[in-house]
Amino acid sequence: MHHFVYRNNELYCEDVPIRKIAEKVGTPFYLYSHATLKRHFLIFNEAFEGLERLVCFSAKANTNLAVLKLFESLGSGLDIVSGGELYRGLNAGFSPDKIVYSGVGKRTEEIDYALEAGILMFNVESLEELELINKRAGFLRTQAPVAIRVNPDVDPKTHPYISTGLKKNKFGIDMETAIDGYKMASRLKNITIVGMDCHIGSQITESKPFTDALESLKNLIDELRNIGIQIKYMDVGGGLGITYNDESPPHPREYARAIVDSLKGLDLHLILEPGRVIVGNAGILVSRVLFRKSGKVKEFVIADAGMNDLMRPTLYDAFHAIAPVKKTEDEQITADVVGPICETGDFLAVDRKISDVKKGDLFAVMSAGAYGFTMSSNYCSRPRAAEVMVKDDRFHVVRERESYNDLVDGESLPPFLDD
Ligand code: LLP
Repeated sequence: MHHFVYRNNELYCEDVPIRKIAEKVGTPFYLYSHATLKRHFLIFNEAFEGLERLVCFSAKANTNLAVLKLFESLGSGLDIVSGGELYRGLNAGFSPDKIVYSGVGKRTEEIDYALEAGILMFNVESLEELELINKRAGFLRTQAPVAIRVNPDVDPKTHPYISTGLKKNKFGIDMETAIDGYKMASRLKNITIVGMDCHIGSQITESKPFTDALESLKNLIDELRNIGIQIKYMDVGGGLGITYNDESPPHPREYARAIVDSLKGLDLHLILEPGRVIVGNAGILVSRVLFRKSGKVKEFVIADAGMNDLMRPTLYDAFHAIAPVKKTEDEQITADVVGPICETGDFLAVDRKISDVKKGDLFAVMSAGAYGFTMSSNYCSRPRAAEVMVKDDRFHVVRERESYNDLVDGESLPPFLDD
């Protein structure tokens, strides 16, 4: 069941015509389908039915409070990488003991915040971080539950910017050093070893890189058991890809089967950190055509959404389908869909066959629910877009469009400018 569909040639989100939302909210805006978010979470979670597991939605993909709250109500935990994401998670009502904290650069005050909140575990990415967490836990008279994020050196076969489990990547600790890390952790007074973690990359479209990584980790778990170190949680990270264009990633059930087979007999409590696979295709970005322009060699569709709203095409050459909000009989055109930003890299699509959208027409940038709004910026002093959620025939603005006032909020003039 798809929830972004045409009825009488008009694009709907669930039972709401997208045109109606645009009239009320203006453009551009992100639009999330409640039914799709819910279905994707449940399919993923149920794929691991019967196993001890905690699905921790990866906040970085979409941190809107309404989205987080929905997942929380479905039993999700949360994967965070910053104090800000912890703040959002707690705000959305997540129980701290369902929150896992990864990231190579945790600051002292972020570590303190997480210790005081009482999170489930820190995924530690360096020996120096381990020492700091121990020190802060001692200072706060508490115990820090940790997993070591292991870098298994496998190629996830994805865009180089989003591969994280190769030895040249900054993430995690290599296999040999990880053993030393666990030994060190076992001697540190305020550290409790609870798990092992690994996240090898994102938008991965086959199961093999995941199972290769787990094969390596299994050896590590054996070695640890031999020296008397037991772990309870195996956090396998996120990374399962989605279909943007013609990719055919494994279904969550297939992915689950591969993971479960790899970890058979180990009696571990599984943690998963999916982001994109849950929210990616549950959201779109809606934009309006400002102008059309025929260049000497290209046709341009100039939109009111740009790279500051959706950075993925610019940053990764990512493909997002472009769909008209009103379908017409007109012949398709081949065009660059570009934004208002003063950079040549400001595009949503290049040399793309799309419907012949005219000045004033609305169109949707598909598959924009993950890493869309969360990576948006105020570049060129553009207020960030609104976010809207639809449920059945209702919609709600879950984040207001920023105002000009928001843009200068917090800035102040130094008195010495008057000297
Ligand atoms: N866990 C950790 C430790 C991560 O670093 C990430 C993503 C995830 C889980 C969730 O991965 P997912 O299931 O969404 O693949 N901005 C890029 C993606 C960066 C992913 C960063 N880490 C993009 O737009 O494609």
